Amino acid sequence: MNETIFTWGAPPLKFGPGAIDEIGFEMSQYDVSRVLIITDATISATGIPQRIQEQLTRYRIRSEIFDGVHVEPTDDSMDKAAGYAREQGPWDAFVAIGGGSVIDTAKAVNLIITDGGELLDYLNKPIGAAKAPAGQLKPLIAVPTTAGTGSESTAMCVLDVLSLKVKTGISHWRLRPTLAVVDPLLTLSLPPEVTASAGMDIVCHALESYTARWYETFDRKRAEDRVTYCGSNPVSDLWCEKSLKLIAGSFRRAVHHGADDLEARSEMMLAATFAGMGFGNSGVHIPHANAYPIAGMVKDFHPAGYPQDEPMVPHGMSVSLTAPEAFRFSFESAPERHLRAARWLSPDAELHNDPVEQLPSVLVDLMRDIGIPNGIGAVGYTEADIPALVPGTMKQQRLLATCPRTPSEDDIAGIFARSIENW
Ligand SMILES: NC(=O)c1ccc[n+]([C@@H]2O[C@H](COP(=O)([O-])OP(=O)(O)OC[C@H]3O[C@@H](n4cnc5c(N)ncnc54)[C@H](O)[C@@H]3O)[C@@H](O)[C@H]2O)c1
Repeated sequence: MNETIFTWGAPPLKFGPGAIDEIGFEMSQYDVSRVLIITDATISATGIPQRIQEQLTRYRIRSEIFDGVHVEPTDDSMDKAAGYAREQGPWDAFVAIGGGSVIDTAKAVNLIITDGGELLDYLNKPIGAAKAPAGQLKPLIAVPTTAGTGSESTAMCVLDVLSLKVKTGISHWRLRPTLAVVDPLLTLSLPPEVTASAGMDIVCHALESYTARWYETFDRKRAEDRVTYCGSNPVSDLWCEKSLKLIAGSFRRAVHHGADDLEARSEMMLAATFAGMGFGNSGVHIPHANAYPIAGMVKDFHPAGYPQDEPMVPHGMSVSLTAPEAFRFSFESAPERHLRAARWLSPDAELHNDPVEQLPSVLVDLMRDIGIPNGIGAVGYTEADIPALVPGTMKQQRLLATCPRTPSEDDIAGIFARSIENW
């Protein structure tokens, strides 16, 4: 029997310039006395976590700052953060102030501190046991400082499992932050390279969600078996459409004039949050599944704008590199959705004559304009790496389940091969 039900969830939102100065008041509504503020070293150096700490003090809430989050978190770095929280606790609540790396780490810390056990218990199958938290977690206020992941809205966290060289995650609706506080002023300091990479994450969230398998095409589930990603649906579609339209007007401006274009920064923040409200319920597919091995098997790529101490392919960049080819592959599953999305992203330009090429060519134009590397070749991969990349994608069954056209291993190998150069 086919599915008849879709689910949709998002936390309450406080949005706008100056919103972070209301975190003390917001936290005081939860009847808490001791809070851990979780961040990374770069954000800590801006003084913003300290500003939040002063806010909390004003409402007689004691707090400490942990600024040891690893950019692109790993099982090891999340365990260290949880270890710190365990040793220095107890905590009544958490504030996450940073990009997706910070917010995801805070979700994992909250889970382990509140529900007990080890990270591995909760990781998605087959890597972990996909244990569901027994009860409600502690309040977590998520404050994004990048316009990208939408993690402030979503019910999942993502990490690298170092020993297996694989990226995976934890997904359960209880991970969703209690409140999202989104303040576009925080993103004025984002380097252009982070703006570009994180912004491509938004683009792909919205496009993959909008082209994901329609929820009614799945088999009917029991209430206890429902998963976080239920396929595209009428509510997620609305958020994705709006997100793509905002991106069309503001993404290039945010990359090239981001230090003083608050309107573009605000629209990108809205776009990120909207896309999170979309894909966080419907799901993503091939570009995200391919991103996991592209990031996980990195050799020697050190992108500008990011910490230089270890090689990395930033998340949004890794997602975007095979997106043009992935949307050529998925086109036949829902042509009208691909064509509509191309028009939303590029409302004024003349689109390609060949309908299959419209969305890929709009994406390639955007990626060239904002300085995304030209294909997986530009971040260090050759044809010889493809047999090793493909199994990394095929392991992401949670993501491939929402793919509108089921890809075989050969299909994925072909997508990688044709993404070595995108233009
Ligand atoms: N949970 C989810 O739903 C979800 C969705 C997508 C991605 N992710 C995860 O999020 C992570 C990527 O997050 P991201 O793209 O937001 O980047 P990030 O958190 O990794 O930060 C990137 C870099 O930008 C710096 N930075 C952040 N904000 C800044 C600011 N305002 N000014 C100056 N520098 C700033 C950081 O210190 C870091 O060096 C990945 O691990 C990815 O897997 C999670």
